[in-house]
Amino acid sequence: MLRHFLQFKDLSRDELLYLFERSRVIKSRFKRYQPYHPLTDRTLAMIFEKSSTRTRLSFEAGMHQLGGSAIYLNTRDTQLGRGEPVEDAGEVISRMVDIVMIRTFEQEIIERFAAHSRVPVINGLTNEYHPCQILADIFTFIEHHGSIQGKTVAWIGDSNNMCNTWLQAAEVLDFNVHVSTPPGYEVEPERAGLYGTDHFESFVDPMDACRGADLVTTDVWTSMGWEAENDERLKDFADWQVDAEMMGVAKSDAVFMHCLPAHRGEEVTAEVIDGPQSVVWDEAENRLHVQKALMEFLLLGKVES
Ligand code: CP
Ligand code: NVA
Repeated sequence: MLRHFLQFKDLSRDELLYLFERSRVIKSRFKRYQPYHPLTDRTLAMIFEKSSTRTRLSFEAGMHQLGGSAIYLNTRDTQLGRGEPVEDAGEVISRMVDIVMIRTFEQEIIERFAAHSRVPVINGLTNEYHPCQILADIFTFIEHHGSIQGKTVAWIGDSNNMCNTWLQAAEVLDFNVHVSTPPGYEVEPERAGLYGTDHFESFVDPMDACRGADLVTTDVWTSMGWEAENDERLKDFADWQVDAEMMGVAKSDAVFMHCLPAHRGEEVTAEVIDGPQSVVWDEAENRLHVQKALMEFLLLGKVES
């Protein structure tokens, strides 16, 4: 059966637990320089309508390491930028490759593409969601602290694509998210694609959201596509900077995460992101390993080797 990964809840709890275990195996092989080529002769098309460093590199390197190849396409020099319907692009591109990753604006765009695709489609970030990043973040949490079930994640800042995806993940994997956003930037449960509000709690004061948390995380105040609001956001978010005081009220062994790229002195202090509780480099590296496990799963199903 054709499977896509367009939002976090497209995978069940069992499938996610399988993927985390599979990521561990794939990572350990990679660290031992053991070749593993289950996707020989398979091709990944990567379509970017927004900038990227980590997503492009991790998908391209990952596909290569699995024995396949990757092709980079962007809006500037493909017909997508000249108004070719996304449905037509889905029909054509999916006849030439085995799997597709898209980074775009509205979630609706990737859904329309997937509805016309013959091959699996992966969300490499939309305005609403960033599911591959949350796969990496939770895998990183598990590496440091074991199962995330029942744990508390503090989300400080904008209710953006990262926040929405943490909230979906909390529903599927049964953990809690404490959210603190400035007034006017609150979570919209429907846009986040939530079944309910049982797994998150909103806090006016970010210190309260961090209290007792196992993981504190944030993201840029201005996401790609919202650049026109940058000056206003710098003022509105000024009190939502993750600093040592916030980390100080979280659990003593709490970790700090940020999907990167980060702005030291805005959403996080240099002391925190470069400090001993920060796991941001593991988090970035793990994009590679979880996405290799994801591509393998979408193309081959569960494997045992
Ligand atoms: N975290 C992340 O997705 O980074 P890029 O924008 O560099 O791909
Ligand atoms: N929320 C950010 C994440 C970047 C990886 C954005 O959408 O720009």
